[in-house]
Amino acid sequence: MKTLIEFINEKQADFPYATGEFSRILNDIGIAAKIVNREVNRAGLANILGYEGSENVQGEAQKKLDVFANNEFLKALKNGGQCCAVASEENENLVTFESDFSNKGRYVVAIDPLDGSSNIEVNVSIGTIFTIYRRLSETGKPGTVEDLLQKGLQIAAAGYVIYGSSTMLVYSTGKGVNAFTYDPSVGLFILSHPELRIPPKGNIYSINEASYIYFPEGVKEYLRYCQEDHPESHRPYTTRYIGSLVADFHRNLIRGGIYMYPGTRKKPQGKLRLLYECIPIAFLAEQAGGKASDGFRRILEIQPRHLHERSPFYVGTTEMVEKVEYFMKYFSPEFEIKD
Ligand code: AHG
Ligand code: MN
Ligand code: MN
Repeated sequence: MKTLIEFINEKQADFPYATGEFSRILNDIGIAAKIVNREVNRAGLANILGYEGSENVQGEAQKKLDVFANNEFLKALKNGGQCCAVASEENENLVTFESDFSNKGRYVVAIDPLDGSSNIEVNVSIGTIFTIYRRLSETGKPGTVEDLLQKGLQIAAAGYVIYGSSTMLVYSTGKGVNAFTYDPSVGLFILSHPELRIPPKGNIYSINEASYIYFPEGVKEYLRYCQEDHPESHRPYTTRYIGSLVADFHRNLIRGGIYMYPGTRKKPQGKLRLLYECIPIAFLAEQAGGKASDGFRRILEIQPRHLHERSPFYVGTTEMVEKVEYFMKYFSPEFEIKD
């Protein structure tokens, strides 16, 4: 049995000049995840269900657990001292900790503290998504927005926690994807899925099909393709949609499949946020042998322009993502987002 801490420490040797700071930050995220996991598990008892009464920067009502999770992760990153700034879904502006201790930190973090908040009340899987970058600005000063506006290609590490039928932490430092399952009886994450690879063939597609009429023609054509009778290629495929990106992606990562959140004429950028949803999940998909696209461009090559920028998102089994890209190029070239 290998614990998350043992694994992180072992892997530290893979990085020349590693000082242990990076291991510490991953570890801090793991600790905050355990605290959030505890609250998620007793949410029905702990007076933590329901709305906080506030809105976040995207104008979405904040749930108490959104706010709780955000506070826990920020606290852990602040106390760790390796992180000098955080971009969070729940904070309009960049969070800097304004202390000499944190200003010395060499890393910045982008985080969706609670993903899938609409599922909290109904006991359905939710998650946390994070990205870690090395800062670009000078150490000793507060982190800057530019430190966070890096392409996914620059990621130092990214991962997610899924609070599901069991709780798991899945992450990558650019050398494959490893997944750890939480054992609540001993309070440890244990390596359960070393070197995860996404199956090269999949038959699951995940999309909020209620918005069908608004989808680009390319997506409609792809859905028609998914639903065709073609037993040799396992079509018609099957639909699974939870409404928590983390949970939908996690299932498709293990089983093989595609998750889609298209842009529409009214909302060409779609709904999902680049920094703390699309980019980290894209990084994990690629590290597991899959692919992630905005329909035209590789997600990891997109230069983010602001902290809460949105992007259309297609992620999962390479062959499936390539197929939808083909349909987009052919039927919906007007949806291409240019730099
Ligand atoms: P969040 O709870 O962090 O706001 O994210 C919700 C996201 C994502 O997790 C999910 O896949 C998607 O929104 C669901 O959106 P629809 O309800 O429009 O399908
Ligand atoms: Mn989210
Ligand atoms: Mn969220």
